Amino acid sequence: MRCFLFVAGSLTVSIAGLGAGGAAAQDVVKVGVVIPMTGTSAAVGREIAAATKLYIAQHGDAVAGKKIELIIRDDASVPDNAKRLAQELIVNDKVGFLGAGLTPSAMSMAPIATEGKVATVVMVSGTSVVTERSPYYVRTSFTLGQQSGIIADWAIKNGSKKAVSVLSDWAPGAEAGKVFEANFTKGGGQVLEALKVPLANPDFAPFLQRARDLQPDTLFVFVPAGQAGTFARQFAERGLDKSGIKLVGTGDIADDDDLPTTGDALIGVVTAGIYSAAHPSQLNKEYVAAYQKANGHRANFISVGGYDGMHLIYEALKKTGGKTDADTVVAAMKGMSWESPRGPISIDPNTRDIVQNVYIRKVEKVGGEPWSVEFATFNAVKDPLKEAAAK
Ligand code: PHB
Repeated sequence: MRCFLFVAGSLTVSIAGLGAGGAAAQDVVKVGVVIPMTGTSAAVGREIAAATKLYIAQHGDAVAGKKIELIIRDDASVPDNAKRLAQELIVNDKVGFLGAGLTPSAMSMAPIATEGKVATVVMVSGTSVVTERSPYYVRTSFTLGQQSGIIADWAIKNGSKKAVSVLSDWAPGAEAGKVFEANFTKGGGQVLEALKVPLANPDFAPFLQRARDLQPDTLFVFVPAGQAGTFARQFAERGLDKSGIKLVGTGDIADDDDLPTTGDALIGVVTAGIYSAAHPSQLNKEYVAAYQKANGHRANFISVGGYDGMHLIYEALKKTGGKTDADTVVAAMKGMSWESPRGPISIDPNTRDIVQNVYIRKVEKVGGEPWSVEFATFNAVKDPLKEAAAK
């Protein structure tokens, strides 16, 4: 009956009160992940799909007496698609959990998760505000602020005084730029200009030229997963790798998905990031080897959001004895901590956001390929924008 109302177009009536697990088949818990499998951000979807499947392959598809069924839906990075797919997953597939991807899609899915009462793991989005859009959102990815403030402090400490920012023009880029500038300025530095590069099919050349003309000592760059390779090529083509300008950024510009094909362009680049495939723990070595074997390419910082997202779902189910009621599940997730391939992580019980180490890394050639080699660790970093708001 509710399905009929949904088709008739009354979303609020149709899914309000439809408890996530309530109508699901007794022994199956479906996890519906909405990610871009096609379009400009297809790499992101590919990594999340690969990592969530790897987790299930390694840990089995049975937990707390339930069989886990993973459903991947392609939103092609279009927020309206994400919203529609989330509705369908709740109403038709009766998922017990949702997985959310890119920031704009995660934003548009939030009211659906709230009304449908479905616990949702944010596996990709790096924008602070996303977790505030639904009480059922819990993040396993990262925030840009977590990394941008730390790299600004590092740059100041290492002699940077005048910076130019090159930022992908959407919410995560705005946050990266805002937190970088706040910390850089507080440390006595000056951001000469923040250059905004279109998100889709970017041509970095004119922005890199403008940045060079401004004669900064430091270039701070955020481009999202999937764009580091193009950025590195254009950076080297314009000779910026030999210009003496220090290139720093969030982990996104030293994406392990791109590093193997960037040659020498990014050698020496320092980033503050949440994950490197070179992270020297036993768990990570096993993760990188298993991911490589299954997919033929390196695990990257996006993949761990999916892998840890599945872990969070499995552990929550164990704690609730297989219950998927969103209030019970989210309560179980709050404060949970575990070792990820990236290092120790936890879910902040107050904000439902991820708390994790941020590493300072330098791109170096190891065994003939570029890797991001960690050399300093900031422990248990929270999202700085939420920290500031709480004061
Ligand atoms: C996001 O959707 O917020 C996002 C995606 C990819 C990134 C960073 C942020 O590399």
